[in-house]
Amino acid sequence: MRATFVLKILSPKCRIQNHRTYIIYVVKKVGKMFKLTEKGEKIQEMFDTIAPRYDFLNRVLSFGIDRSWRRFAVKKIKYAPNGRILDVATGTGDVALEIAAQTPSSVSITGIDFSGEMVELGKQKVAASSYAGRINMHVAPCEDIPFADDSFDSITIAFGIRNVVDRSQGLKEMYRVLKPGGRVVILEFSTPRFALFKHLYHFYFLKVLPVIGGLFSKFSAYKYLPDSVIEFPSQDQFKTIMAGVGFKNTQHHDLTLGIATVYTGEK
Ligand SMILES: C[S@@+](CC[C@H](N)C(=O)[O-])C[C@H]1O[C@@H](n2cnc3c(N)ncnc32)[C@H](O)[C@@H]1O
Repeated sequence: MRATFVLKILSPKCRIQNHRTYIIYVVKKVGKMFKLTEKGEKIQEMFDTIAPRYDFLNRVLSFGIDRSWRRFAVKKIKYAPNGRILDVATGTGDVALEIAAQTPSSVSITGIDFSGEMVELGKQKVAASSYAGRINMHVAPCEDIPFADDSFDSITIAFGIRNVVDRSQGLKEMYRVLKPGGRVVILEFSTPRFALFKHLYHFYFLKVLPVIGGLFSKFSAYKYLPDSVIEFPSQDQFKTIMAGVGFKNTQHHDLTLGIATVYTGEK
């Protein structure tokens, strides 16, 4: 992560020296402004590029199963009446919309994502839905969430954490803005354990999927997808990372023979 310091101007002072007037600003370092790394910028650009075809390809490439995974993950959230839920890496808002569908109207939902194009499409989808008043969306990175500590009852992130370059920092930020007793729900791809199914899955994921992705969108983005899944930690390793950030009662639940996994943890 690269950081630029944010300086607060405390008191401009005027000084006259050798017939010249100088204005001196006393500044104080008040924090760091988050700046994406080069790799982060490339990932952001990639999602901006694939945004227009993202929803269509999700349905085609997963044979529609992705919807049931999101539904399952959202069932794990915790909320109180008038609660607030944050969906990180919200993309075009499918999880945010699913949360709205599964919760009472007093619950409000915020989606953040660092891709402006994804957020723009998400805003259009939300506006066209019956949940327009309950969901708001902003462009923001997971590594620097623009909300106060202890703000949300639950936080979700679906197929997002894998892409977050500084994963620990992203998890730390989610932990920070989660209320004590609140729950994080993370949906992510994983590698199936059964040998035969794993081979079939790898063939589809590594050989077929990038070609279909390339036909309708960008080959390199759909080549990046399986590569990033393969390098993602195992279920147990990821729960250890979550625990290292402070999450308690970490659990995981594999879906569809271990193609995807839902992780939960509490603050
Ligand atoms: C595979 S999409 C998932 C979108 C959505 N959650 C869904 O279920 O369809 C991954 C999303 O993560 C976002 N993303 C990746 N890294 C991010 C980061 N560091 N901060 C915020 N958003 C990020 C991308 O812009 C993209 O919209």
